[in-house]
Amino acid sequence: MTEKTVRAAEKAAEKAAQRCIASACGASYDLRERVYVCPRCGGTLEIDCGLDALRNPAGLRERWAARAASREPQDASGVWRYREMLPFDEPIPFVTLFEGNTPLYEGPRSAQYCGLDDLRLKHQGCNPTGSFKDTGMSAAITQAVVLGARTAVCASTGNTSASLAAYAAQAGLQSAVLLPRGQVTAGKLAQSLDYGALVCEIDGNFDDCMRLIQELGDDPSIYVANSINPFRIEGQKTVAFELMEQCRWKVPDHVVVPGGNMGNSTALGKGFEELLEIGLIDRLPKLSVIQAEGAAPVARLFAMLDLKQTAGGKDLPETMAPVENPRTLATAIKIGAPVSWKKALRAVLRSGGRIIAVSEQEIADAKATIGRDGIGCEPGSATTVAGIKKLVAAGHIRADEDVVAVLTGHMLKDTDYASHYHRGTLALDSGAKDGSAAQPIRGAFQNSPERVAASKAAILATLERRR
Ligand code: F0G
Repeated sequence: MTEKTVRAAEKAAEKAAQRCIASACGASYDLRERVYVCPRCGGTLEIDCGLDALRNPAGLRERWAARAASREPQDASGVWRYREMLPFDEPIPFVTLFEGNTPLYEGPRSAQYCGLDDLRLKHQGCNPTGSFKDTGMSAAITQAVVLGARTAVCASTGNTSASLAAYAAQAGLQSAVLLPRGQVTAGKLAQSLDYGALVCEIDGNFDDCMRLIQELGDDPSIYVANSINPFRIEGQKTVAFELMEQCRWKVPDHVVVPGGNMGNSTALGKGFEELLEIGLIDRLPKLSVIQAEGAAPVARLFAMLDLKQTAGGKDLPETMAPVENPRTLATAIKIGAPVSWKKALRAVLRSGGRIIAVSEQEIADAKATIGRDGIGCEPGSATTVAGIKKLVAAGHIRADEDVVAVLTGHMLKDTDYASHYHRGTLALDSGAKDGSAAQPIRGAFQNSPERVAASKAAILATLERRR
């Protein structure tokens, strides 16, 4: 890309704005306005990056590739390397922990389990705080710095909070996180404590924490860094750019992600759509989202849609019935009223993907299968492989298609789950108001530890038995 094109692109970026996605509203707000939902109609906001001048950008791919080899923080970061696509003016006071640059693995056992010839796994759990949240948080905390905010806050099932606490600490900002008491894994909670956040354990579930966050957002000292904040989505969309580089710009047929609050699916959808808009790819991958059965309001809505009528993201439903008491052992995605459902649904429909739900048993076995590929992940991430298996069985994905599953969290985020699965003691406890019984989960790929006598012979004999 020539310097002239860069200047043109920068000029266009000046026109970038936050826009309401409600078609009847469409209000737009300056990037420096601290708004999270549309002040006029309460609708969801997204950032229009004004990418017009970047259309058919000769040399942009090469420029990004060259930056990846640099040691300068703004180039080495897997977010800021793509800064032409981000709504920030230079000089950017970027806050980075060297996020992104995550591996794209082959998963032969997972592929076979799903009924596919091949399956690749993009492991976002290899980010600095162990989850995919870091790319978006790098952008959101940078925007907090741009706006001169004092305190960054979020509601979380544990990963957003760990990420927010780390990036706020790096930026020298105060942070506070609202967590549903007793529903966050020990590892995730420990991260927020260590990074110095004020940890508020709330009596309620994630959706209650999210409601509180929306109230707190009115306070001028507070910056809300949940994925309702469109700058989070901007940082997170860069995963689509990095994935395309790793695929050598050959668009996969399907990209599959877990769904909780639906920020990740929104971000990936936006990333691919922008690449298509500026001509760096020639079609969209089909984007599918997988929820856990006990926390699947969007999958439930999707099942009721007339796909012909809503194709291309038209005629979106105005409302979605939340799940009042979400239940799943995949605590990361235990969410009944996802805030970004509409943007995510639109992205999925535009791409021709699906939104479905998988059971606790399916999640558990998929997680153990991914593990057998030597790739750990947390339960919420394993919904992808469980969902792909279902989509292959339903004929939506063909065995010879090119499929990428996005893994969102590191295995060490939830070691209790894996221990219980492999020891045969995993169960979805009764938490339902109807008092229904606990549901035990059978470890189809159980690998319980063995007590072995302290001798060479005993170890060799045990190995022989297990060969
Ligand atoms: N996977 C993991 C490991 C997560 O932590 C989350 C969300 C998701 C998937 C779902 O992504 O919300 O963008 O649809 N965790 C949030 C949190 C809610 O607070 O950490 P989403």
